[in-house]
Amino acid sequence: MTHIRKAVFPVAGLGTRFLPATKSVPKEMLPLVDRPLIQYAVDEAREAGIEEFIFITSAGKNPLEDYFDSASALERRLQDNGKTSALEALESTQLPEGRLAFVRQSAPRGLGHAVGLARHLVGDEPFAVLLPDDVIKAPRGALGQMIAEHKHTGGHMVATMEVSPRQVSAYGVIDPIAAYGRSLRARRLVEKPAADKAPSNDAIIGRYLLEPSIFEQLGNLGPGAGGELQLTDAINADIPTTPVTGFRFEGERFDCGSVQGFVQATVAFALERNALSGDLSDFLAERLQSRALAA
Ligand code: G1P
Repeated sequence: MTHIRKAVFPVAGLGTRFLPATKSVPKEMLPLVDRPLIQYAVDEAREAGIEEFIFITSAGKNPLEDYFDSASALERRLQDNGKTSALEALESTQLPEGRLAFVRQSAPRGLGHAVGLARHLVGDEPFAVLLPDDVIKAPRGALGQMIAEHKHTGGHMVATMEVSPRQVSAYGVIDPIAAYGRSLRARRLVEKPAADKAPSNDAIIGRYLLEPSIFEQLGNLGPGAGGELQLTDAINADIPTTPVTGFRFEGERFDCGSVQGFVQATVAFALERNALSGDLSDFLAERLQSRALAA
């Protein structure tokens, strides 16, 4: 079984749900507590053993590239001023030089198109895709869980989570034929099905392990849901020759593509921080109590 070394991060989206903040700041740079959103997906990938990081960007995403660059002047200054913890915070985000690539997607043609642009950088080996909007809080990173399971299943693997029937149309959905522990063997995948046409409520969440055969399918893909080239459709088209598994990861997922999800994630992650949790819980308890009294 080949070791999964490379990960693709599609970050070309416009982030319109976060306007006006995203007018001049990429959505992926918005801070979740004190780390930009993109850092959470990158940390999860590093924990899972990923060594090469491929970002699919678009116009206006240069701050992401700067963010992952070293900041030697700043580091020197922090060192000179004895700001050790700030320096450590900075160093903890550093990715190995020469292991990052940025590819521009010139028009918003869909997730399938974005992933297809990584073909020449991924080459002929299995790889991971992480959608940074999906933040997963878990004792062990969701991608690491998937890679461990993938050693037994091979093929394509998508993270899944059960959602309520009225939410299925916002997701890709798998049609499971059999379950083995947390793994669901899929017969079919459908992108954004109408609620009454959904084959199940096992929704795809933004973590994928893909065999290189996906690039052939992406190359042949026609427009799908929303008129865009859909990764779900390419995986579905590959089912006759490559098994597809849905993996019900352990952990809590936040949809940080929505303001509601972003705020919830901020509270959940802040409550885990020793330096913040005490005051924050008191504040939240007081607020909730005064709202209840006013109601
Ligand atoms: C994308 C995928 C979809 C998946 C979702 C998870 O959709 O196309 O299959 O369920 O991410 O977040 P998007 O949210 O970009 O519309």
